[in-house]
Order: sequence, then structure tokens, then C-alpha cells
Amino acid sequence: MHSKLTALFQTIYGRPPEVVTRAPGRIEFIGNHTDYNGGSVLGAAINRGVWVGAARRDDGVRRFFSEFAGKITTLPAGELVRQSGPASWVNYPLGVLAALPAFGLPGPEGFDFLALSDLPAGAGLSSSAAIELASALAFQALLGSNPDRETVVKVGKHAENHFVGVPCGILDQGVSGFGRRDHLVYIDCRGPRFETVPLPPTAHFWIFNTHTKHALVDGLYASRHRECMEAARALGVGLLVEAKGAQLEHARPGLSPEGYKRARHVIDEIERVESARQALRRGDLSTTGRLLTASHQSSQSLFENSTAELDYLVEMLAGGLNVYGARLTGGGFGGAVMALTSPAFGAAQAAAVASGYAERFGTRPDVLHTQTGPGAEVVWKAN
Ligand code: GLA
Repeated sequence: MHSKLTALFQTIYGRPPEVVTRAPGRIEFIGNHTDYNGGSVLGAAINRGVWVGAARRDDGVRRFFSEFAGKITTLPAGELVRQSGPASWVNYPLGVLAALPAFGLPGPEGFDFLALSDLPAGAGLSSSAAIELASALAFQALLGSNPDRETVVKVGKHAENHFVGVPCGILDQGVSGFGRRDHLVYIDCRGPRFETVPLPPTAHFWIFNTHTKHALVDGLYASRHRECMEAARALGVGLLVEAKGAQLEHARPGLSPEGYKRARHVIDEIERVESARQALRRGDLSTTGRLLTASHQSSQSLFENSTAELDYLVEMLAGGLNVYGARLTGGGFGGAVMALTSPAFGAAQAAAVASGYAERFGTRPDVLHTQTGPGAEVVWKAN
């Protein structure tokens, strides 16, 4: 990807980039909608992501090109206005630029910017966090600044919350920033505090991307966020992480049925994350897998962010040979299912699941066998 990016940069801008960075996509391993509730979550950075090349300009003009958009978007000096239509991908790097001052970081004035991705977009693997982190690192590297990982992660989240406008938690950016090969990233979202947890090399990931996406997915995410905050208020706590299961049962008569279900899911899910972390410490993938499947069932019945397509895949996978567990990964309301498998799960078995799905739903899911990979980094910088 590095040489492809350099060649494309040369073709588009007629000169080489000054810096090249990359940031990985992520799998939400377990911890569904726990992050913005102050809970914990486990995720994996994968060996695919977004690559960014950038070089400074003297005239303050900012030019953005991505292979996926296929054209240059030019913004005049100093302009930080939200883009719409085909140029809306530019909101990720622009949002990062807009976020930098809040962290006391400088931003480059003019530059040429190019993004390449080997991460399927819309698959629930968080290409948005990947482009945010790769952009933040590129902008800093252009100015010779080298902020710590945690700051880069927070800049990405700030961009997403305040510029892109999604009230997400820190999972996506945290995992993309702190990922490590053969490890999961554990985040205690209240700190936030980041840790890596070794993953047995016999653990394999298979992603089934349904390409389905609820038309109102952003609004549904925001409404789940609101319901959780309302439930926390009704329970007399700042965030649901502070509430205990017994407290919730006691307060149940005063809660709406939805409020109760959302809170029950979040409180149980945080416990499942902690149990999975313990199980992983023992190298116990069977218990971990059962927790993953239980997480999905809770998303399905309590958080109500699953779909018939995701449920079908989990049902086919979770009971199958060589599969430890399966669940929806990411925000839900469409997107992808991930399965944690042994190395014996192979392409033929995955294809059989995909064919069953195609018979039922009329389209074939994309199947991706993926491994863990390193977190966001500056790959190259001109002297
Ligand atoms: C999306 C958000 C994350 C997290 C998950 C659900 O991926 O970006 O912050 O809330 O949904 O767990």
C-alpha cells in the first residue's frame, strides 16, 4: 500500500508526499454500546486500514483526494466548512483539523492530502476512525509534532463527535490507536484507560458483511444513546456503569420498558466484557466465545439493535463446528457479524454460511478472514 500511495500521490499532485501514515480498522470484540456508558470494551485492530499521504503547500489551499471518491476536493485557505454529497468523506480529515486546537496542537495551513483504503467501507470495521487517526498523525508529522497516542485517539473522537456529528464513544478510535498484533485492546472508557490483552494465536476472525444498513442508522444510534442517558438519570447515576443490576431491578417500575431493557443490556454487557477478559487471561476461548454469542442475544432482545440478517448469520455460525462464538460487531442496525473461530474453520465452511444467507436474503455477504494488526503509526517521513 505504501508504494501504491506514493505512486498515486505523484500522479494526482505531481510530487511525492512528505509523510505517509496508516491506521487500522477495528473489530468490536465484545462490549456493545458500553463505551459511551462509561463501561469497558474489548476490540481488535485488524491488518487492514486507511493510508494517508500528505505534503505542505505555501498558499494555504487544502486539496483532498481519495481513491474511493475518485476526485480532488479543493478548499480555500482557512475554510473549515462541513462538506456534503460525494465530498462528505473530507469531513473526517477536516473534523480532525477543527479538533486540533482543543488539544493545544498545531494544524498545517495548506496541504495536499491523499487517502487510500483496503478496508471495506460500511462493514462496521470503522473506516471513519481509521481515516481520522491517519489524518491526525499525518497533520502532526507534517509539522514535526509527535503527540502521544492517547491524544491522537481523543482528537479522532472529538472530530467524530463535534464535526461529523456522531455521539460515539471511544471504542473505534481507541482500538485503532492502541491496537497490537496478536492482542486485543481493553478500554476502561471512564478514564479512559487503555491496555492490551494477549490473544491466543489459534484465535481467528471471520467477518460477514451483510451490506445492509438501516436507513435511519445514525438517528437510531443517537436515540439509543439518549435512552441510556435517560435510564442513568432515572437510576440516579451519572452513567450506567455506576448502576448495579439489583438497583436496576428495584427501579424498574419507574422506568419505561425500553429504558429498562437498554440499561439491562449495558449493565450485563459490562459484566460480560470483564468475564471475557478473565477468560482470555486463562486462554479459554470456549468461554470467551459463549460470552460473544450471549452479547449478541442481548443486543437482539434487549438493546434491539440487531436485524434479521445479523441474527441469521449468528445463528448459523454460533452453533457450528470450529466456531467459538459470533455476534454483531459495531453499532448494529445492519453491518457485519464477526465469528471467533479455531484455525480449522476454513473458506469452504464460510462459503456454506454465505450461500445459506444468499438463499434466504437474495444477496451474498462479503466474507473476510482477518487477523489482528498494529495500531496507527507514521509509516514514513521525508528527511
Ligand atoms: C459504534 C460507535 C462506538 C460504539 C459502538 C457500539 O461503532 O462508533 O463508539 O458505541 O458503535 O458499541
